[in-house]
Amino acid sequence: MGTVSTEAWVLPSAARRPKQAELIRETYTFPDITSNEVLAKPIYGCVEGNMMHAITRDPIDICAERGEDTVVLGNAGVVRVDKIGSDVTHVREGDTCLVFGVGEWDAYGYPVKALGYDAAGTMGVFAKTTKLHEKQLIPIPTGTTYSLQQWAAFSLRYVTAWGNWRVAYECWQSQMKGIPTKEVVVCAWGGGVSFAQLALAKHFGCQTIMVCSQPERLALLKASGIDAIDRSQFSDADFEQGVLGAIAEKTNGRGVSIFIDNIGTPVHRITLKALARQGVITTCGWKCGMRTLVTRAIECINRHIHVHTHFATCQEGLDAIQFAQTHDWMPPHDEHVWAWDEIPQMMDAYVNGAISTYFPVFAVNAERDEDE
Ligand SMILES: NC(=O)c1ccc[n+]([C@@H]2O[C@H](COP(=O)([O-])OP(=O)(O)OC[C@H]3O[C@@H](n4cnc5c(N)ncnc54)[C@H](OP(=O)(O)O)[C@@H]3O)[C@@H](O)[C@H]2O)c1
Repeated sequence: MGTVSTEAWVLPSAARRPKQAELIRETYTFPDITSNEVLAKPIYGCVEGNMMHAITRDPIDICAERGEDTVVLGNAGVVRVDKIGSDVTHVREGDTCLVFGVGEWDAYGYPVKALGYDAAGTMGVFAKTTKLHEKQLIPIPTGTTYSLQQWAAFSLRYVTAWGNWRVAYECWQSQMKGIPTKEVVVCAWGGGVSFAQLALAKHFGCQTIMVCSQPERLALLKASGIDAIDRSQFSDADFEQGVLGAIAEKTNGRGVSIFIDNIGTPVHRITLKALARQGVITTCGWKCGMRTLVTRAIECINRHIHVHTHFATCQEGLDAIQFAQTHDWMPPHDEHVWAWDEIPQMMDAYVNGAISTYFPVFAVNAERDEDE
């Protein structure tokens, strides 16, 4: 089998860069496609939390986990198919597709490992040419009126939100059947997945609240009809009391029915305190720490359900896209796109919390007229 070489921003192993992890630009060479794989040109990618976890090597060192010296990250984006293997049936050459970021599935179709992250031998969109299994691509609906930047932003966060919402809402209903959705309070800590999930909850008629910071985010939430609590107004000393007080005020003391917490350790205690009886705490992420403390007796007595999910099945991906197309459930279109050359600066800014959009999009092979 031959090989393919491409320009890429790669994550070097700790053996190569012991002091700090950073993306470096180099020529990356990989084995040519097998019969079920395709070669594709990434057009746009979207920065995701897992890329930050990879670069900071926290909570895991993915190069060590994969036993590889170099990894091409990037499990969110839009690609154009260049060449297909002889057994590929789902996509054709020239198709524009969403990256579906699963690297390894279990026997029931649920994701175990992520493409371009902890799944060994996989590569993502931080490369001018990438290699994907056909199951890692979903064609973008023909005639879509949404921009390719929006679909790039959609590909990971919105599909994750769809999968997590389905389980969380069914869990809520398992104890609270017949309660009208207008009485269901859904609250979340900040982040693109949470924003997508709250937009979904709002669509179904729930009361929605997001705890966030930064004026741009407050403006986006206002425009989206999602109530906001500005966490920057509270000092460290009165943070817990302040957030709980604001939630109590907005829910008339009823508490939160479904709390989306993808932040983890520093806020988990507040999340649990804010939950109503029969409440659901739901998560797919651990942005600021993965270990949490639970007092089992209190959780049992309050009949709290704890939901944990990881991305989505292929069917959930297809359902999410279909729903988005027909119900205008899409990330906002952002004019600002980071250039290929600016990728290290973009990642620095993201890791340091200096990007206000929830969906930072970067160009890989985008032409100026890509969206026309
Ligand atoms: N398992 C999966 O399939 C999956 C899929 C997608 C994402 N994830 C994970 O889910 C997590 C969240 O991802 P995301 O993309 O939604 O996040 P994100 O867009 O990167 O945003 C995280 C936001 O959290 C808020 N925040 C940061 N520190 C905080 C703190 N100490 N207290 C309260 N809020 C804080 C900040 O918003 P404000 O400053 O506005 O509050 C920040 O912008 C990440 O760990 C990501 O890796 C998992």
